[in-house]
Amino acid sequence: MSYIPAEHRYNNGMSYHYCGNSGLQLPRISLGLWHNFGEIDDFSTATEMIRYAFDHGVTHFDLANNYGPPPGSAETNFGKILSTELKNHRDELIISSKAGHEMWPGPYGDWGSRKSLTASIDQSLKRTGLEYFDIFYSHRHDPRTPLEETMQALADIVRQGKALYIGLSKYPPEKAQEAYQILQSLHVPCLIYQDKYNMFHRDPEKASIALAANHGVGFIVFSPLAQGLLTNRYLHGIPTDSRAAKPSGFLKTSQITQNKLACVNCLNELARKRGQTLAELAIAWVLRDERITSVIVGSSSVKQLEDNLKVLNNTAFTADELKQIDGILGAH
Ligand SMILES: NC(=O)c1ccc[n+]([C@@H]2O[C@H](COP(=O)([O-])OP(=O)(O)OC[C@H]3O[C@@H](n4cnc5c(N)ncnc54)[C@H](OP(=O)(O)O)[C@@H]3O)[C@@H](O)[C@H]2O)c1
Repeated sequence: MSYIPAEHRYNNGMSYHYCGNSGLQLPRISLGLWHNFGEIDDFSTATEMIRYAFDHGVTHFDLANNYGPPPGSAETNFGKILSTELKNHRDELIISSKAGHEMWPGPYGDWGSRKSLTASIDQSLKRTGLEYFDIFYSHRHDPRTPLEETMQALADIVRQGKALYIGLSKYPPEKAQEAYQILQSLHVPCLIYQDKYNMFHRDPEKASIALAANHGVGFIVFSPLAQGLLTNRYLHGIPTDSRAAKPSGFLKTSQITQNKLACVNCLNELARKRGQTLAELAIAWVLRDERITSVIVGSSSVKQLEDNLKVLNNTAFTADELKQIDGILGAH
């Protein structure tokens, strides 16, 4: 059960943005379950984070078939938490999952064929115990499967009632554009596009953000903190409980270079002057663009999540601050 009554839950400072041209609103901060929710992780911490998020207006939880480890276990754990903590709140939740990365052996457990997507969503529904996902994504573009096949499979998933909306993730801009048009012609418009965007990775500024906006598609960001690099986590070495120190973590110690750390230190100083933590600054910087519907943050503790939600107190930047940030990033 949630501890906070609804009248407080939705008056805790969270704001909601319409997703592209759709009628669906998403919280500006969503919670991702890629790391820290698998079988190897602490279940009570995972439960506390979901409860805290929900109690503070985070209505959107982002999953994928392969989140864990082992793959699938984040969906299983989320299903358990849902059935105990949030069982009376399904209609207040937007739950997404994805298929497209390697999930099971053989030629059908990966990529974007009709066979693979159909089998995967059925498995994901079973693991979570859900009747439907709110959003179902093609997790990446499959260069071997015709785009028409992948899009038709996604549209059929919606028609079958297994998902309410469709999303695409990490498609190259020209493929995303084609896919938006195919989905439009199938009368199942793409709801949302999901991509990596943070101060260290600005590729979406070149085309993807504008492309989504021009097609009435929402844009949701993953890894806004560069997996923890854009926080105070690594300022004094590599903590033993950090993502970089864990063998299952996707952040590698080789990515934490002296140059990056020098940059992070300068950004940290700027954050301090704004009265924010570096994590808050990094999330605020992503949210400065009104075309960004929502930011999916990851967290390994309730404290981190609590800190990250504070960003909503100040997402505005002066032109001079933005110039300083560009200067710091450019210099490193
Ligand atoms: N579509 C895709 O292909 C794709 C790919 C990647 C991610 N995603 C989605 O995006 C979500 C977020 O990605 P991400 O986990 O890489 O996001 P992130 O927010 O960039 O990184 C999260 C990590 O940053 C650290 N952190 C978070 N808040 C902190 C704070 N206040 N202070 C200090 N450290 C803090 C934690 O690291 P420690 O664990 O070290 O504490 C946490 O695990 C995923 O869960 C997933 O749902 C999608």
